[in-house]
Amino acid sequence: MVKALVLYHSQQYGNTQKMAEAVAEGLKGEKCEVTLYNTNEGRFDITKYPQYDCVAFGSPDYFSYMAGTIKTFIDDWYIKRNESGYQARPYAAFITHGGGGGARRPSPFSTGSAHRWGRPSSARALPTCRP
Ligand SMILES: Cc1cc2nc3c(=O)[nH]c(=O)nc-3n(C[C@H](O)[C@H](O)[C@H](O)COP(=O)(O)O)c2cc1C
Repeated sequence: MVKALVLYHSQQYGNTQKMAEAVAEGLKGEKCEVTLYNTNEGRFDITKYPQYDCVAFGSPDYFSYMAGTIKTFIDDWYIKRNESGYQARPYAAFITHGGGGGARRPSPFSTGSAHRWGRPSSARALPTCRP
């Protein structure tokens, strides 16, 4: 079974957590085994990364960027990226925001750090999680 990691930061209202749970339900509907992890509760142990086949990142818009804990994950991965098992996986990203127009701008994941991590999966690509 395909293993999917839903890695998200949710702290203020639980908005991003609600989205993460919806993403997880969608992935389960595609027969993925899903792990939900809120990086606000602690740093994700990067040595667990190799056990996952794909990742969905979720973050609140924090001043037009991702939350620092998600950036920390990307930095941790970048340091390990040339080790066996750490190659970039297909990923999807979702954000919540407070109405500051973030949805109309490029997302915090569409430039910079996230592109060093890997190429985004389109929503269409996610059904490849089927076994
Ligand atoms: C430090 C900080 C910066 C924020 N910056 C923005 C912003 O630039 N634009 C915006 O629309 N919302 C901004 N927000 C609002 C959050 O993105 C929004 O409330 C989000 O849904 C909170 O997610 P959570 O409930 O999962 O923590 C900011 C919130 C915080 C705490």
